[in-house]
Amino acid sequence: MHDRASRQAAIIDPVLDLLDAYRVQVSEQGLSVRYALETHSHSDHASATHAVRAEFGAQVGAVASRGNARPDLELWDGQKLPLGQSSLEVLATPGHTADSVCFRLGNLLFTGDTLLVGGTGRWDAPDGDPALLWNSLDQRLAPLEPGLVVLPAHGCSGHLFSLLGVERKRNLDWLSGSAQELLERKRSEFRDPPPESVLRHLAFNHERDPDGSRRERTLGGAWVCAAASPEADPFTVLGVDKFKKALARRDPAALFIDVREASEFEALRIAGSVQVPLSELGLRVSELRAAPRIFVVCQSGRRSQNAAQTLTYVGHPDVVQLKGGIQAWQQAGYEVETSS
Ligand SMILES: [Fe+2]
Repeated sequence: MHDRASRQAAIIDPVLDLLDAYRVQVSEQGLSVRYALETHSHSDHASATHAVRAEFGAQVGAVASRGNARPDLELWDGQKLPLGQSSLEVLATPGHTADSVCFRLGNLLFTGDTLLVGGTGRWDAPDGDPALLWNSLDQRLAPLEPGLVVLPAHGCSGHLFSLLGVERKRNLDWLSGSAQELLERKRSEFRDPPPESVLRHLAFNHERDPDGSRRERTLGGAWVCAAASPEADPFTVLGVDKFKKALARRDPAALFIDVREASEFEALRIAGSVQVPLSELGLRVSELRAAPRIFVVCQSGRRSQNAAQTLTYVGHPDVVQLKGGIQAWQQAGYEVETSS
């Protein structure tokens, strides 16, 4: 995430396997990466904070924890990390691990594995404590504004984000009601004990500057800190013909959004659509939720499915997705606008 005016950026929970993607984004968007931040010590993947420091000159920030030689910057509750004109606030939320934090930037809340869409991270990760996790939910996150956009560390089966108020109402872990109930629930959810690879990942992620090429040979073991996300709530999916008819009848207050990137939208688009790229959906969620109906398109139908699923999950009652996207629209011979 970055501050628009200054182009200063922070990469939260960078993953070694995605380093090339970070390089592209930093270069294309002209960013200066000021921080590589950990929401917690990861035991299910190799962190890239050391590589982001080496490549971009970022400071590595993490809560001090036993044996962790990686950070330059020790994080603490209430700390404000300057980022251009804005600042990132650190919220200590121990539980999934002892060193778990969330980061808040304006209306965005990066929750790591403390709070996922529909769940929370595993309770039996090294240094995990379900009673602390319950306190973090109940004491630290519950008082925050319900409209905060929740961005967890784990991909959430097509859900792009959630809202804090939605999680308070729908998240079964949060609905447990007490630390004891949460523990019982999580014990029944996660029966298999963590494999040995979690310790190897932790050791790698706590080294100051490990050799990244070693990870595939030595770390091994697929294991994830998170449970599966909830099933998608139903929304309307229409083929091109029905979608076109629905568009023609639409209420002027309805929104018609195209969730592709600006370059794709500029090249060609369906008349009447406005561009809201997938990455900005969370930032504009209040405006989107206020529309009585939302039509969503993308290139092939994949991104618009994620958008429709997410908007429906956070409470939008009427989302209509174009099956097959603009590709199907064009194949059906319907007109598109182009820049030329
Ligand atoms: Fe985790």
